[in-house]
Amino acid sequence: MSTWANLGLQDSASPLMEQLIFFHDHALLILVMITVLVGYLMFMLFFNKYINRFLLHGQLIEMIWTILPAIILLFIAMPSLRLLYLLDEINEPSITLKSIGHQWYWSYEYSDFNNIEFDSYMIPTNELSTDGFRLLDVDNRIVLPMNSQIRILVTAADVIHSWTIPALGVKVDGTPGRLNQTNFFINRPGLFYGQCSEICGTNHSFMPIVIESVPVNYFIKWISNKVNS
Ligand code: CUA
Repeated sequence: MSTWANLGLQDSASPLMEQLIFFHDHALLILVMITVLVGYLMFMLFFNKYINRFLLHGQLIEMIWTILPAIILLFIAMPSLRLLYLLDEINEPSITLKSIGHQWYWSYEYSDFNNIEFDSYMIPTNELSTDGFRLLDVDNRIVLPMNSQIRILVTAADVIHSWTIPALGVKVDGTPGRLNQTNFFINRPGLFYGQCSEICGTNHSFMPIVIESVPVNYFIKWISNKVNS
């Protein structure tokens, strides 16, 4: 999760988020190089006399500064497209989780296991335990097995919400009347926090998401307890 003074991206917990971070750094590097070059040229303009007896045209430099930016843009567009298609790939998921956005909480369904369903509300500040995270912790967490491909189906019951977990690189809109799909793979155990990221009403900021990533055998224990209760 994000902690104090963390201005960049969160540490990744999935291969897709890792790729997203790599792409971000790559694009940022190109951006810095362009900024430095343009900054240098603009600074050098201060020392220009604006007088040149022989300057009438410059075919060569104009060819260079038209074609070069196009080539530079290709270096961003190609990896960007690769990532776009990578994010849409569905790799035979072993579990499906359905999350439904409501004003203002999420509810979840494990359709593979006797259709277990529960609501997940934010814990209000005055009921928070000392080790809880304000505006981020929920009463019922999603439990998911790590090292397995997981499909999520996102929809909403009233207005548009967005199921967003930065560490997993997941951000899917929940739209009434539609069922959106994405998938991810959690590669380490831990708690992963997220929030709704579609302005959905007054309490938009108060419908967080918590995923508890556990080893597969722990998940089986948890889910069989749920099924039997
Ligand atoms: Cu739900 Cu914002």
